[in-house]
Parts: sequence; C-alpha cells; structure tokens
Amino acid sequence: MLKAICSKKNLKEHLYFKAVEDIIYSDEIQQLKNFQHHLSTTRFQHSLNVSYYNYLFCKKFNFNARAAARAGLLHDLFFYNRKEYIRKTGEKRHIGRHPQIALQNASERFEINHIEKDIILKHMWPFTLALPKYKETYVIILIDKYCAIMEFFAPYLSMFKRKKNKVKKLEMNKIKTATLVE
Ligand SMILES: [Fe+2]
Ligand SMILES: [Fe+2]
Repeated sequence: MLKAICSKKNLKEHLYFKAVEDIIYSDEIQQLKNFQHHLSTTRFQHSLNVSYYNYLFCKKFNFNARAAARAGLLHDLFFYNRKEYIRKTGEKRHIGRHPQIALQNASERFEINHIEKDIILKHMWPFTLALPKYKETYVIILIDKYCAIMEFFAPYLSMFKRKKNKVKKLEMNKIKTATLVE
C-alpha cells in the first residue's frame, strides 16, 4: 500500500495519485527505494511524504497542487548514498548542491514545467542562494523540514506506542486473572 508518514490513507485511492501516477512507478523514482534517507527511511518514502503533504497544503490554499506533488516526488532525485558521496568527493556544500543534481536528473528523465523546476532547485533555500519565485517553492521549504522531523521521530514514536500497548495488554491480563480468581 502506498502511504505517507503519519497518514493511514491509501494514496492510490486519493485524488493526489492522479498528479503523480505517470511518474511514480518509473525506474528512476522506484530506484530511490535503494537509498537510506534521514536515518530511518528511504529516499523514496521521504519524497512520497514531501510530495503528498506538499499536495495537501497547496490544494488547501489553491496553489498549484499538481506541480507541488510532482516536484515533491523529484526534489531529492539523486542516486547515491549521501554520506558515502561526501566522504569520497569531499564536497562540503552538498546541502546546497544536491538540488542542482536533482534538477538535472529530473529534467533529463521527465517533462517538468517552470514551477516544478523552481521547486526542485530551491527546496533547500536559503542554502541555495537565489530567491524562490513561486509560492509553491516556499511551501516545499517548510514541508521538507516538517517531513524530516517526522521521519526522525517516527522510530521513537512507534517504540513508545509498542511499549504503551504492551503495558495495556499486561493490565488487561491482570484484570482477567483477578476476575477468574474471584
Ligand atoms: Fe533535499
Ligand atoms: Fe528532501
């Protein structure tokens, strides 16, 4: 099932899916499943999270939700392990440089419009110096960070939930045993 973080919706059955259905199963985007991102997730899942929440936010405010969804899926389109790449190349400004790499990869493989280009190229602003041109670009700057925070805390939240369920189960068992004894 295609799901975004902190959402129970099956994205294939959501209106969102219409905006990305022609690109999401491409080899290039599926390849992102092979790369770890933000420690606890894959680059594919991170891109899907950003794409979906970008779409929801832009839809709500009547911005270009289709461009936001598509560019969200393509904004981190690079095919290497970030840490290994930095170690090998010694590149210190990968944080501001990877949007250029993602835009080049996206432009070579997909047809993208001027809003989508701006979103991809400046999603790390202010690390990328040029100012965003569109409202949708400011949206991804926020949504990308929001998703990164959720992805970072997701493993701790599920650990907390598991512990809570375990305690609940133990308490239920205690009540059952007490009832049987009575
Ligand atoms: Fe990025
Ligand atoms: Fe990102």
